[in-house]
Amino acid sequence: MKFTIGFEKEDAKKLHACWDEIFASQQWTEAKFTKLFEEKWAACNQLPSLAFSSWGGAALAALEFFNVRGKTVLCPSNTFMATPYSAIKAGAKVEFVDCNKDDLCLSLEDLKRKVDQHKPAAVWVVHIGGHIAFEIEEISRLCKEKGIILLEDCAHAHGASWNGRKAGVWGDAGIYSFYATKTITTGEGGMLVSRNNDLLEYAKKYRNYGKFDYVVEGLNYRINEFSAAIGAVQTDRLDEIVAWKNDYAAKHLDPKFPHRVKFPEGMISGYYKYIVFDPIEKSTGKVYDQPCHKIMKKTYDLPNTDWAAQNHWCVPLYYKGE
Ligand SMILES: Cc1ncc(COP(=O)(O)O)c(C=O)c1O
Repeated sequence: MKFTIGFEKEDAKKLHACWDEIFASQQWTEAKFTKLFEEKWAACNQLPSLAFSSWGGAALAALEFFNVRGKTVLCPSNTFMATPYSAIKAGAKVEFVDCNKDDLCLSLEDLKRKVDQHKPAAVWVVHIGGHIAFEIEEISRLCKEKGIILLEDCAHAHGASWNGRKAGVWGDAGIYSFYATKTITTGEGGMLVSRNNDLLEYAKKYRNYGKFDYVVEGLNYRINEFSAAIGAVQTDRLDEIVAWKNDYAAKHLDPKFPHRVKFPEGMISGYYKYIVFDPIEKSTGKVYDQPCHKIMKKTYDLPNTDWAAQNHWCVPLYYKGE
């Protein structure tokens, strides 16, 4: 199966109609389709949503709102460099936490240790591969008990749920990416989801140079109307895409790959990746083959992270891919 963007050919007509409307409106940014994309995402993600030009802009808005400057942010090492870099760019010190071998996501056991050791202001959890981190309930409880901000990196988790709850609902904020390889893409783009109204108000200003009172020192992280229109059209397809991927995985992949990430009762993966623990002939490679702490040349004892980097592979799984 070749990499295929999950975009239905028949949606091109719908999208072109939206783009024609944008051309005619003379409003290429900050208008109807940004709002529409946000409304559709909020409806499917069960949380108020704010669109950005990238994951990074949305992440910075959240980290700066929660004022992590000069404080410690805990972060899994088994993730993309975007996750630790966001905290560093927001002025925080990053300390790395190990992952589990079953879900490849943040380890509660190591998190507890690192919380005691580093007294962090915030924690990043990353829903690796598009399933929800298996220990998210306990992680969320621990953070609440200790007064630590929990941020969910939902870059992979479009359409994922656990007993009907979507990624982003456990933390203080969740951040999605619409980069060109993601399940739903706008080419480039991001979405901040949160039920914290103060954060949403701050983030609205943050993505727009603090307009209009200039209290918030933000930059330009606005999404343009053309991209937002893609997002609005694509969001209508999200359930269908995730259902298709789950159906394909159950019928064609699960019987072939018994040694894979197995989800707990009630969890539906968005299947950004189909992860197995044996080398396979036609793999798309690893989710990440180098842990962030190694890329950053830091010494940490993270045995599961090191194990994961060596011992997982991804089976190609793309919506209606051939
Ligand atoms: C886990 C994770 N976090 C953050 C990002 C950053 O997203 P973006 O490229 O949209 O800024 C990505 C990937 O692109 C990612 O995989």
